[in-house]
Amino acid sequence: MFQTTNNSKFVSEVPRKNTFSENDWHVLAGFWHPVAFSHEIEDKPVSAKLLDVELVIYRTSKGVSVAKDICPHRGTKLSAGWISDDNLVCPMHGICFDGAGGCTKIPSINRQNVRIPPRLRLQSLKVEERYGIIFTCLKEDPIWPIPVWPGIKDKKNKVLHFPTDTWYAAASRHVENFNDVAHFPWVHKETFGGYENDPVPDYEVNHTDYGLSFDLPYLEEGNRFPDGVEGHERNVIYTYQLTFPFSTIIMISPIDSDYVQYFADTVCPVSAYETKIFQVATDTTGNPDIEVLTKETLMINDEDKGFVESQHPEDLPLDLMEEIHIPADRMSVEFRRSLAKRFGLGTPLVN
Ligand code: FES
Ligand SMILES: [Fe+2]
Repeated sequence: MFQTTNNSKFVSEVPRKNTFSENDWHVLAGFWHPVAFSHEIEDKPVSAKLLDVELVIYRTSKGVSVAKDICPHRGTKLSAGWISDDNLVCPMHGICFDGAGGCTKIPSINRQNVRIPPRLRLQSLKVEERYGIIFTCLKEDPIWPIPVWPGIKDKKNKVLHFPTDTWYAAASRHVENFNDVAHFPWVHKETFGGYENDPVPDYEVNHTDYGLSFDLPYLEEGNRFPDGVEGHERNVIYTYQLTFPFSTIIMISPIDSDYVQYFADTVCPVSAYETKIFQVATDTTGNPDIEVLTKETLMINDEDKGFVESQHPEDLPLDLMEEIHIPADRMSVEFRRSLAKRFGLGTPLVN
């Protein structure tokens, strides 16, 4: 009912309605995470949620800003406000905040040269826009870089932004599925999946500066590439590059042409059981067909979504003894092992 009076400086950053373990929350809060597409933030503030923390995202002439969705005056939601004179206006008493989160106006004080209390400012977060995606970090010093995506970072290529979607599953379950190759003939029969009895070749997972990577040769049934090569099936090489914790790019290269498709997936852990998906793509044509690729992407996601949302336990088991692994799971085994070993995820909080 009441917040205690003697600890206001030490109020835990962990939100009261936190669905993560406290340890996992603190570890994940140190990474950059996507919270919106740039094109979604125009002339109105927008709400988002990251690791159970409510955020407001707004745009001023200084660029995009992200802050906790709490007015420092009486705690109302700023995302219900509006933008006026390049300021975010709180809807409850009209106090205005600039792009850096500082208060610029208190309308109920009708005096010149009023001294604005320095503490009357938003809890603003670090923000970066890359590839048309807004990334933010809940901690002061991010522990890991924003992903660097070949092809997509190349300014000469047109980058497509697909419709966002929310999956009722853990971000880690989504990422593991995105990097799972053995489900293609079973789950993606209608899109690019190959033949059920084709074995998954042995592949090697490499540790990189940013995460994990592997290459996999694959025979796709069908021909989905706009490179003029005829045929009812295509031999491709998939190159996966995962940036911890939840971002992956796949480079898809048919072996009989110079064409490469770059498809990137980065997801926001809204809560422990809710994940917002951001996907972008381009290709070596530099001008990929938005209708064709959007239709294909939505179909592929639709094929995956129900499986991932049905997985139990909902939390990804990081103890490798918890689920049974097959040789095709090399990537998921390395992903689980790395999250636990490198970052201490999935471990109880010490002290
Ligand atoms: S609660 Fe925001 S201005 Fe009063
Ligand atoms: Fe899939």
